[in-house]
Amino acid sequence: MNTRKDLFKKCYDFTLADEVKALGIYPFFHPIEETEGPVVSFGGRKLIMAGSNNYLGLTADERVKEASISAIRKYGTSCSGSRYMTGTVNLHLELEEKLAEYFEKERCLLFSTGYQTGQGVIPTLVQRGEYVICDKDNHASLVAASIMAVGQSGKFVRFAHNSMEDLERVLQTIPDDAGKLIVADGVFSVSGEIVELPRLVELAKEYGARILIDDAHAVGVIGRDGRGTPSEFNLVDQVDLMMGTFSKTFGSLGGYVVGERDVINFIKHNASSLIFSASPTPASVAAVLTSLEILKSEPELIERLIVNTDYVRQGLAAAGFKLMPSRTAIVSVIIGDQMKTMVFWKKLFDAGVYVNAFIRPGVMPGFEALRTSFMATHEKEHLDKVIMEFNTIGRELEIL
Ligand SMILES: Cc1ncc(COP(=O)(O)O)c(C=O)c1O
Repeated sequence: MNTRKDLFKKCYDFTLADEVKALGIYPFFHPIEETEGPVVSFGGRKLIMAGSNNYLGLTADERVKEASISAIRKYGTSCSGSRYMTGTVNLHLELEEKLAEYFEKERCLLFSTGYQTGQGVIPTLVQRGEYVICDKDNHASLVAASIMAVGQSGKFVRFAHNSMEDLERVLQTIPDDAGKLIVADGVFSVSGEIVELPRLVELAKEYGARILIDDAHAVGVIGRDGRGTPSEFNLVDQVDLMMGTFSKTFGSLGGYVVGERDVINFIKHNASSLIFSASPTPASVAAVLTSLEILKSEPELIERLIVNTDYVRQGLAAAGFKLMPSRTAIVSVIIGDQMKTMVFWKKLFDAGVYVNAFIRPGVMPGFEALRTSFMATHEKEHLDKVIMEFNTIGRELEIL
């Protein structure tokens, strides 16, 4: 008898996506035809975008667009190589210098995505017998990066979400003489909650650990003029490494890490995801350079973002929705059931509101949610419509 197992069997057996599509409630991969930022077109219809991380609305800013277009004229569409080889243009160096200055650290290193930044930093630093210590709710890219560290005989341990008691318990189990890196999202990407940084810093000092904060959802949202979580707590000099993405506030694509000179230099010459992947395109880098100038010179954008998000948060809470704890630009509404989450998503979509459905494995059972996020460029009428449609559908589905 042939006992061979076909590697692709799991693919042929995977029917869930097709089943959900057949029900007409599939919430993923819907193509946007055109976008102005807060309003986007799907299938010839205009919808309010209440699920993007384009926090300051800069993807639609004419100055940012023009910067990208000019960079393409000067440098072409791609660097066609890694930073290490032929893929560095002077825009990369200019952005690294400006970001290091902005984040008040000695040096900065760019990557082609935020995902690759984690993959470049964590397994490069955490080697044989050393520990990466992650919050259980860290972004999937940080988990993947930590698993890469295990591939190099590093150790990967986790602590209960934002629990500094559990972090201390975990630190007590690690040998005193082992190198340790504590990694946490600054603003957690599913809930919008902020890390308990002051206590985390105390524990890191007490147990001799280094700290990496991923500020993907914090930059442009919290901290002095949008400088992120360490700045929010006045702890920039206590956090060893800060990383982030250009795909949210900066309205572009790419990632960065900032820290002390020798550490960034070591990552630069050893990180596989940097050395073996093409550099960020000139168009992407030029967009970030312009966004950074806007971020520094127009703090009122951040104020508007916070006012907009607070308005929706208060509206949904007043209606009786159960929200995840957050005071950032993410408002996650707990639905608590996979099917109801997708049905709710589809009803919002049909009513002209686009949000994100978070189901397993993205969240734990019972915490299935609709994640909304807002922009500085949303108008009050957009926000009112989001609140109104949530209300109507929440009642219809007996969630309220
Ligand atoms: C905390 C966090 N880190 C990293 C990333 C990945 O960033 P990028 O989209 O640049 O790959 C994200 C994106 O969602 C994120 O939320």
